[in-house]
Amino acid sequence: MKYLAPSLLAADFSKLGEETLLITEAGADFLHVDVMDGHFVPNISFGAGVMKSLNSLETAPYDVHLMIEDPDLYIEDFLTEKTEFIVVHQEACRHLHRTISHIKSLGVKAGVSLNPATPVELLTEILPFLDLVLVMSVNPGFGGQKFIPETLNKVRKLKDLRNSMGLDFLIEMDGGITEFNLEEVLEAGVDMVVAGSAIFKGNRKATENQVKKFKGIMDRR
Ligand code: DX5
Ligand code: ZN
Repeated sequence: MKYLAPSLLAADFSKLGEETLLITEAGADFLHVDVMDGHFVPNISFGAGVMKSLNSLETAPYDVHLMIEDPDLYIEDFLTEKTEFIVVHQEACRHLHRTISHIKSLGVKAGVSLNPATPVELLTEILPFLDLVLVMSVNPGFGGQKFIPETLNKVRKLKDLRNSMGLDFLIEMDGGITEFNLEEVLEAGVDMVVAGSAIFKGNRKATENQVKKFKGIMDRR
């Protein structure tokens, strides 16, 4: 099973409720919630309050991507009935096992994200504790950047590690994914695809079509 998680960063924030309902109805599996603090990444997006404003709507569950320093201080803020995954960055956590255990103790799934320059080998000891690994295919901080194809090797390595260690975490990829490179992303072994600017197109019909196009390609796998 392959999952699609459109990134809200590319949505029209003045119509966030409308946009999230639209992509959910069109077939999105998760809402990818990009939280940026202006420290871990050179950009500020939005916080838990904005995410929670969607709680009363019947949207897909949340996949929360915390691009923030000291994520331990904020994890509870992102806990809602619709929160399925909380993903922290390896580079932002000094005590990663503690952070992951904390997330899981709250009853949500835990993931770790890797910047393009961070090797997957740094996760070997923590993999048995993870529900998901997020491989960044751009340097985090902005939507609409160019895909870094070399990061696909990290997906292949993770897939091999998952097999050899007998684990079942999901492999997610985020950044610069479009309908034109989606096939190679899936071919490398990605289970969960994040896409922002390739999904939200500024008008209802085009956005709906993009979700359906992505899901169509993914369901053929
Ligand atoms: C980048 C974010 C991504 C981004 C994806 O820092 O983590 O989720 O919004 O956007 P696109 O698909 O436009 O690269
Ligand atoms: Zn993201």
